Amino acid sequence: MGNTGTTTATAHIRRLGRWDELTRLVPATGMYDAVIDEIDGRRIRVGSQWLTDYASCNYLGFDLDPEIMDAINREVRRWGTHPSWSRLLGNPRLYPDIEERLTVLLGAPDTLVLPTITHIHMSVIPILAGDGSIFYEHTAHKTIYDGCVYARGLGATIAPFHSDEPDQLAQKLRAAPPGHSKLVCMDGVNSMTGDIPDLPTIAAICRDNGALLYVDDAHGFGVIGTRSPSETTPYGLYGNSVVAHTGETYDDVILVGGFSKAYSSLLAFLALPTWLKEHLKVAAPPYLYSGPSPTASLASVLAGFDVNERRGEDLRHSLYHHTARVVNHVRALGLATPNVDGTPIVELPLASADVFKRVDEILWREGVYVTMAAYPLVPRDQVGFRIQLTAVHTDEQIDWLLSTISRLADENLLRPAAA
Ligand SMILES: Cc1ncc(COP(=O)(O)O)c(C=O)c1O
Repeated sequence: MGNTGTTTATAHIRRLGRWDELTRLVPATGMYDAVIDEIDGRRIRVGSQWLTDYASCNYLGFDLDPEIMDAINREVRRWGTHPSWSRLLGNPRLYPDIEERLTVLLGAPDTLVLPTITHIHMSVIPILAGDGSIFYEHTAHKTIYDGCVYARGLGATIAPFHSDEPDQLAQKLRAAPPGHSKLVCMDGVNSMTGDIPDLPTIAAICRDNGALLYVDDAHGFGVIGTRSPSETTPYGLYGNSVVAHTGETYDDVILVGGFSKAYSSLLAFLALPTWLKEHLKVAAPPYLYSGPSPTASLASVLAGFDVNERRGEDLRHSLYHHTARVVNHVRALGLATPNVDGTPIVELPLASADVFKRVDEILWREGVYVTMAAYPLVPRDQVGFRIQLTAVHTDEQIDWLLSTISRLADENLLRPAAA
């Protein structure tokens, strides 16, 4: 029989009381750790409650695309369900096909794919940093931070910087010990605020100071891309990510991205020079030691490229249309949101951390499923919720979302915009 209590051997885990508040919250809200019993388009059923899902990152709606589903079945019949070789041992042809197409799409020198971004940060950041200095953007995704902490354990020094204070970054880079590597790590489209960073400014500072810039654009890939006079939304074209979107180059810039958001698949990538790709093949543990992505994921990425080529601009148009409706409504109500770039991540801070439960109850009752940002996941003054739009939400679903936001605003539960 399993022992469900706390043993002497495990008691110290519970003593780390930092997470107590979250541990209490998880069962108190339906919107953490939910078991989803059924989906119907963007509607999900949790027990007897149907809700519209604004918590997934399936921005382009590829998770529900019949063309992509059909492609998966075909490749699984050809390759089996899972390659199961580590990549160093063997790669189904799907891998080089993905890397070739991705390299062209991004306009990058080369690309390398690994199962997840987390694998990439944990294995590649320490290799790039060595015993040098890492500067991480203070709002960078937790997985970047974890990669930096791991690198510190292997000899690097780490320090935060603020992307809106570029002079401060320049100073820090100038003061870093010479003769060792300097690495600057940050989000592309920020995972909490949806903001697009000023990459040209940061990249120029890095180049001037001999540093490599490492950017995680998990949320921008598939959504933002090359600006063009023919674009129909400010997202630009092709969804080929933040480097292309900001008119930057890959000189001393490593782009990391993933297929687990806009492409609805389990795979991630680095855009990098070919010499570094060859080096990582022997130096980065996941290429040697980790199991690969399942065939279904590889097939859905390739089919996703096809759909992106033919229908990507229409899907991004719909995504932008839904997002603009939400952002405009929030602004018209005089509410705060950090979203300034119209990306499909709309964070709404609460009037105070104390109304968290009330907001959670109303959203659940109204059938609006969002990412609740509770303390200690975020600092107390940033408690709120995050709405993520996708191309396949319907106009009627957005109508209902807007009326729910109005209801919360009427009860003064949302933070007003600064005057
Ligand atoms: C910015 C960012 N980086 C990395 C990750 C983790 O990606 P993966 O699931 O591929 O490890 C996420 C996932 O939420 C993310 O938002």
